[in-house]
Amino acid sequence: MSFVPMSSLLERARKDGYAIGAFNANNLEIVQGIVEAAEEMEAPVILQASQGAIKYAGLDYIVAMVRAAAEKVKVPVALHLDHGTSFEQAVQCIRAGFSSVMYDGSKLPLEENIAATLAVVKVARAVGVSVEAELGRIGGTEDDISVSDREATMTVPEEAQEFVARTGVDALAVAIGTAHGVYKGEPKLDFDRLKAIADLVDVPLVLHGASGVPDEAIKRAISLGICKVNIDTNLRQAFVAAIVRVLSEKPGEIDPRKLLGPAREALKQVVKEKISLFGSAGRA
Ligand code: 13P
Repeated sequence: MSFVPMSSLLERARKDGYAIGAFNANNLEIVQGIVEAAEEMEAPVILQASQGAIKYAGLDYIVAMVRAAAEKVKVPVALHLDHGTSFEQAVQCIRAGFSSVMYDGSKLPLEENIAATLAVVKVARAVGVSVEAELGRIGGTEDDISVSDREATMTVPEEAQEFVARTGVDALAVAIGTAHGVYKGEPKLDFDRLKAIADLVDVPLVLHGASGVPDEAIKRAISLGICKVNIDTNLRQAFVAAIVRVLSEKPGEIDPRKLLGPAREALKQVVKEKISLFGSAGRA
């Protein structure tokens, strides 16, 4: 099956109260592990490419690998640009075959973010590609940040309402206390803020930085309107841990396939667990 627009997957998830896993992919084994897990779980799935992934693998390779994997399976697969940095990059990804792009203007003042996001939405809409945007800042780990600083970076519900109304984005990433990477302590999500945003905003919401967030918090966030959950760090951890394990058992191993095969299998198990947690199993 070829790539489906992300918005169709998210709108269904929103209506039926579950979330779609959006998993970051950088290489062949990661792509295969994610897509095979989704097929076995009969779950719709989003594969996403970050700036680092595009630099590492190249846009053409990413599209070709994900397309080859998607064509082998029955479940719907969307290919999404994660944290796109410019209008030009969004257009490059659309042209290369992505079915969804994120434009991340969250560093910009509100008016500039709206203008830049709107430009991407106009182009993407014309060719049936979905757009995710971000409001508020999803930072790195936040142990050194005081509460007021932490709140200052979070999404303001009324701004989210205005942003979505004026840009027409298909999905909005919200900052409610998660961060990318490994958490030092347990992340505290601002569920009241999430509820207030969901009450005012009529599009599916996206949770970034979901690796390391306790399962109960993820479930609660989904019940309050999160329809896309981004996972990267947990995949990297499982992938690398398997390589380390094989090498420690067999230090002389020189066949990359003997390292990357078990890594793909370990990653696949994590993807399956996440799909179960998000409630998207059997929804394909
Ligand atoms: P984690 O690395 O914390 O899973 O976050 C992934 C993410 O949000 C990608 O945009």
